[in-house]
Amino acid sequence: MPTTNPNPREVINELNALAAIAKSARDLMEGITKLLHQKMLRYNWVGFYMLEKEGAQDILVLGPFRGTMTPHTRIPLNQGICGAAASTGKTIVIDDVSADARYLACSLETKSEIVVPVFVEGKVVGELDIDSHFLAAFRADDRTICEHAAAVLGRWLEKHP
Ligand code: SME
Repeated sequence: MPTTNPNPREVINELNALAAIAKSARDLMEGITKLLHQKMLRYNWVGFYMLEKEGAQDILVLGPFRGTMTPHTRIPLNQGICGAAASTGKTIVIDDVSADARYLACSLETKSEIVVPVFVEGKVVGELDIDSHFLAAFRADDRTICEHAAAVLGRWLEKHP
């Protein structure tokens, strides 16, 4: 088993390759979560939440994920780091989740988190959420990789309306 992360360029190439062969958005999300969970050493939970209508409101609904089951399968936009990222359309990196009052616990082991919105035609349609058992696991390279992964899904959705 490798003990270092792969070169970011390699991961980005593999993400692009997944988009080229995906048969459906779910297929692509499965592929992205599997790739990032397997290849990135400190990515202990990797999943997508996608926006759905609940009455008149939008709500984040858990999609494909890798890692242990989370209690948070539906997250309102005014809750959690996930709600904050989706409602602002900004990537959020939390180095220490215990210091952020917005944080909704997925597992007791989680120490840091990144949430990256997925855009279609400039509008947020969901997000990629990654948790780590390590403090401050998400650095500049991780942000690049995760934002690329979210953009790959967004572009795929734009091409397959
Ligand atoms: N931690 C997230 C909730 C999702 S679980 O981590 C999988 C949040 O604060 O929104």
